[in-house]
Amino acid sequence: MTALEAPRLPAPIGLLAELTHRCPLGCPYCSNPLALEQAADELDTATWARVFREAATLGILQVHLSGGEPGARRDLVEISAAAHAAGLYTNLITSAIGITAQTLAALADAGLDHVQISIQDSDPASADQIAGYRGGFDRKCALAAEVVRLRLPLTINVVVHRANIERIEDMVELALGLGASRIEIAHAQYYGWALKNRAALMPTRDQAVAAVQQVEVLRKRYHGRIVIDAVTPDYYARFPKACVGGWGRRSLNVTPSGRVLPCHAAESIPGLEFWNVREHALDDIWENAPAFRAFRGNDWMQEPCRSCARKDLDFGGCRCQAFLITGDARAADPACHLSPHHADVEALAAQQANSAYEYRRVGKG
Ligand code: SF4
Ligand code: FES
Repeated sequence: MTALEAPRLPAPIGLLAELTHRCPLGCPYCSNPLALEQAADELDTATWARVFREAATLGILQVHLSGGEPGARRDLVEISAAAHAAGLYTNLITSAIGITAQTLAALADAGLDHVQISIQDSDPASADQIAGYRGGFDRKCALAAEVVRLRLPLTINVVVHRANIERIEDMVELALGLGASRIEIAHAQYYGWALKNRAALMPTRDQAVAAVQQVEVLRKRYHGRIVIDAVTPDYYARFPKACVGGWGRRSLNVTPSGRVLPCHAAESIPGLEFWNVREHALDDIWENAPAFRAFRGNDWMQEPCRSCARKDLDFGGCRCQAFLITGDARAADPACHLSPHHADVEALAAQQANSAYEYRRVGKG
């Protein structure tokens, strides 16, 4: 009996399809894992098409075609067409490098619904320096113009950190100028490569507070012209974010080789057992895979989360961050001021915000 016939769990909403870990850029906060999966291990077109059909049957509404850089896949148009044919709202998340105007037009013809382009900074020289790719900024702007010309909705993604945090206003104006209807401003999340580079990326508390205030000002100023989504800077927060909308509640990630994760950084928690789409149907994985069951609901919680009024709002915060900072994935996310480790996080942030550390680039797969 499938989960569709006897639904015991709410269906996930979104599926992040990490088509490849290959990418021409080398951003210091990359969400790729430290150990990149190799091209030879990537799922083929037919398997992705099956996964999308299973996702639609499971009740998933949106697929995000991501990476790495999804443009590194020669079959990107076929993959996108398969997602569209399965009835999924299809969103491409790209660095823009490796997607030509011709490929974009083919994607649009294949039913692509939405494009997100990452921008590293509003200042071209700084943007190229952060990405480790000369000329990248201009190519991003050119592809954004093509997206708008094809009348596809455009979102600009920006990761905020010490090198660009003073230019949030400029970045919103850049997104407006490019014709985006939405901008996602996410402060760097310290897992994987960003954790390695934390001492180079961490802004000061004053910078982080000013950035949050500025987003509010910009939201009012540009209301009706552009939607500004913002993810707050964890280390200076009072409460944690409801990471991935709660573990195993709303979304799943499929890695290039087919491992299915509750969040992109879940492999950083030791001892979790992930199932693979090569061996299991997606509904079976969603319902039964040990990694998804590990932190679903709230039976796993300890104090202070267990008796906290917010436990069904933020789900105890981020499991990966809890593990990476406290060594215990069941602990409250130390971004929470009620966590016994919160003061350590604040002290760490203050110390690292003043570090002269220079970042390391993501290794190329
Ligand atoms: Fe969230 Fe736990 Fe903090 Fe309560 S104690 S606010 S549930 S992280
Ligand atoms: Fe894994 Fe937050 S990144 S739960």
